[in-house]
Amino acid sequence: MSKVKDISFSKDGEQELYWARVHMPILAQIKKDFEKEKPLKGLVIGVALHLEKKTGILLETLAAGGAQIWAASCNPLSTDDRVAAALSSKMNVFAWAGQSKEEYYWCLEQVISQKPQILIDDGCDLTLLAHQKGYEKLVLGACEETTTGVNRLHAMHRDGKLKFPVFAVNDAYSKHLFDNRYGTGQSTLDAIMNMLNLIVAGKTVVVAGYGWCGKGIAKRMSAMGARVVSVEIDGDLGEDKSSGSGVHKALEALYDGFAVMKMEEAAKIGDIFVTATGNRDILTEKEFRLMKDGAIVSNSGHFDNEIDVAYLEKNAKSKKEVKPNVMEYEIFGKKIYLLSQGRLVNLARPTGQGHPVEIMDGSFGIQALCVRELAKNTPKKAGVQAVPKEIDDAVARMALKANGVVLGKPTKEQIEYAKGYGEGT
Ligand SMILES: NC(=O)c1ccc[n+]([C@@H]2O[C@H](COP(=O)([O-])OP(=O)(O)OC[C@H]3O[C@@H](n4cnc5c(N)ncnc54)[C@H](O)[C@@H]3O)[C@@H](O)[C@H]2O)c1
Repeated sequence: MSKVKDISFSKDGEQELYWARVHMPILAQIKKDFEKEKPLKGLVIGVALHLEKKTGILLETLAAGGAQIWAASCNPLSTDDRVAAALSSKMNVFAWAGQSKEEYYWCLEQVISQKPQILIDDGCDLTLLAHQKGYEKLVLGACEETTTGVNRLHAMHRDGKLKFPVFAVNDAYSKHLFDNRYGTGQSTLDAIMNMLNLIVAGKTVVVAGYGWCGKGIAKRMSAMGARVVSVEIDGDLGEDKSSGSGVHKALEALYDGFAVMKMEEAAKIGDIFVTATGNRDILTEKEFRLMKDGAIVSNSGHFDNEIDVAYLEKNAKSKKEVKPNVMEYEIFGKKIYLLSQGRLVNLARPTGQGHPVEIMDGSFGIQALCVRELAKNTPKKAGVQAVPKEIDDAVARMALKANGVVLGKPTKEQIEYAKGYGEGT
């Protein structure tokens, strides 16, 4: 059973899937193993991920392991309708690009009503829905793909509301070091350049947040010749972050060669703004008022609340879509251009293609192996669980192998010494 935009897009979707498949050697290996072992036989897996070609290969891999797949998108704009059409003949898919809020939740409901035993989530909406519907006891466990989702899971756990184990896939080294940094870096730049067809060199690009995503975006913008300004924040934002707190990251940005300042200063000089904080209200009326005529604003964080789009919608003198996914607002006697409705700029269709294929091969390799772990060795305790080190290391090793790199092994003596058993002079 499926609901997609147009089934006649299937042929183009198959072509997209082919391109991803031949560039995803990690998932190819895992699929081969799954075909033999059938570790997911008889399981229903509920999925809320950006439904595009790389996700399609993950879902094919899980299906090869014996699972029945029910999939929706984790974002109203990010579905590749061609891929969704191609997948819909092989599994159950409820997704199309350009959904209303109601349609988005309707699709998640179709997935959760199948009472899946394992969830793969991106942003925590599906996990939350499983709890709201009272299905949490039926779920063996889940995997969470992104920073914002992991933050929400920690909040649920703190409040005693998380009732099953969830692997924080986002926090695996092989995920956040590569996907959030290199993946978001390249795909954000790629989407902005393709959408605007304007030169990046010589422009002042303000990047809010110097976490894993922010530093990837800043580095790549700078490599294209932009003057990058980094905006961070000094305050206690809760959970310990794998990459340090705001003051560390601001210093890191400074030492990486970027200007660092408050948003109220950066707002006056930026040509292009990219938010990647996972926090809310980064660009609001105050900043819009300070911006130059023609400023371009975009978001690469998970939710669309980093930019106060509602303010622009309500208060602009006029608005018009001047290019696909580019909205021109006339406000405060100037023009401000908002990209992709303030939603993930690198994933909003049709202009965003998401992360490079090889990057998602690694991230989804972790997802597939974590799903097998949930099926075979279900963690006993509810709560946020670290991805097992063996899985994290195995995926990095497979990625190295795919790039033709094989490392030497430490000697027995070196292992002992590294563990602290040894003497030096
Ligand atoms: N676009 C994508 O494809 C993609 C990929 C991965 C993650 N994400 C999302 O991107 C967001 C960031 O993820 P991350 O892994 O970089 O997180 P992170 O925790 O490593 O970094 C976030 C940074 O934002 C800073 N910050 C918070 N509030 C701020 C404020 N008011 N002003 C300035 N800086 C502020 C924090 O100090 C932190 O350094 C999350 O929402 C995540 O889910 C998007």
